[in-house]
Amino acid sequence: MILVTGGAGFIGANFVLDWLADCDEPIVNLDKLTYAGNLENLAALQGEARHVFVKGDICDRALLERLMAKHKPRAIVHFAAESHVDRSIHGPSDFIRTNIEGTFMLLEVARAYWNSLDENAKTDFRFLHVSTDEVYGSLEPNAVPFAESKAYEPNSPYSASKAASDHLIRAWHHTYGLPVVTTNCSNNYGAYQFPEKLIPLVIANAMAGKPLPIYGDGQNVRDWLYVTDHCAAIRTVLAQGRPGETYNVGGWNEKTNLDVVNTLCEILDELSPSSLGSYKRLITYVKDRPGHDKRYAIDARKLEQELGWKPAETFETGIHKTVAWYLDNQPWVDNVLSGAYREWETLNYGLRR
Ligand code: NAD
Ligand code: TYD
Repeated sequence: MILVTGGAGFIGANFVLDWLADCDEPIVNLDKLTYAGNLENLAALQGEARHVFVKGDICDRALLERLMAKHKPRAIVHFAAESHVDRSIHGPSDFIRTNIEGTFMLLEVARAYWNSLDENAKTDFRFLHVSTDEVYGSLEPNAVPFAESKAYEPNSPYSASKAASDHLIRAWHHTYGLPVVTTNCSNNYGAYQFPEKLIPLVIANAMAGKPLPIYGDGQNVRDWLYVTDHCAAIRTVLAQGRPGETYNVGGWNEKTNLDVVNTLCEILDELSPSSLGSYKRLITYVKDRPGHDKRYAIDARKLEQELGWKPAETFETGIHKTVAWYLDNQPWVDNVLSGAYREWETLNYGLRR
């Protein structure tokens, strides 16, 4: 049994689905079901005895203790977080609470549980912390990609909260010996991503005939990683990663935001043409994000060379699959975009006009 936190969110749900398709080991999935958590992502697991879903908060110590005592997991894979930079700018407090205090609580409960194990189980136990490349800060155009040795320079409330959680993870290994591993990955894309992030937002807006908002000049660069490649990397690090180590996960796919949006429009023009002409007509430049990091790029050679992981998808194959998934799953998009999302849209994009 493994304990997954945040397994109803974008990456967590992909991880749970892939894990249960791949092996027999059961999962207990703890998720608070915030706006970003969605049980529809896990609909394929209805009636699946190997998936135990628990609605709850990682800040709830008593709940965590009960779950550890009951399920005796051999590992924790920690995805649960507030994950959207723009939301962290409008309201950082949930980020401090979940990403920092929640990780602290999980570490404390994991440490007590780990100390209660026999020596073999102690050696085998893993706490895998899923983090981001944004902790490293912003790169100049010609600077080398982030290696694991890069100093932390987080710039947004989101990345600062993730950096703080990474430091806690490191300290719990260094001080208490808890067998932790951390992965720092680049921007994920793929099925089940909430359409507040660039790629699914652009697909959903294009389908609705709405503007495709580009922050600033569209020249900010991100490295894109297909979500199932990320899930495979996490499984590799869980199985083979050395306790106390960090591993960068990236797709070797640096793109400007404008390139990404143009590519999405071209694929949509091919798969779902509009009678009004190319979707590029909807591209709209809007006010930039405050403190907008210019460039992220990941050097994933440590993971490749030490543990043999490589991404299976290129950006071209992954982005085609992603667009096709959103076009095939319009009811999923309609459901997540109803209700509270409308208020966020007004808050974030209303202010940029
Ligand atoms: P997401 O926002 O889609 O999902 C987060 C999940 O965590 C949701 O299901 C939510 O309900 C749950 N959650 C939030 N607060 C909780 C709490 N207090 N207790 C229990 N559950 C809670 O995020 P994601 O994109 O799937 O990201 C997963 C992890 O990967 C995060 O730690 C994020 O920082 C990291 N990451 C994401 C990306 C990316 O591109 N999406 C890139 C790098 C790192
Ligand atoms: P996002 O998907 O929010 O991920 P992150 O901020 O974690 O990298 O944004 C990806 C890039 O796209 C980022 O440079 C901001 C930009 N962006 C836009 O230009 N328009 C938008 O509407 C959004 C949501 C993002």
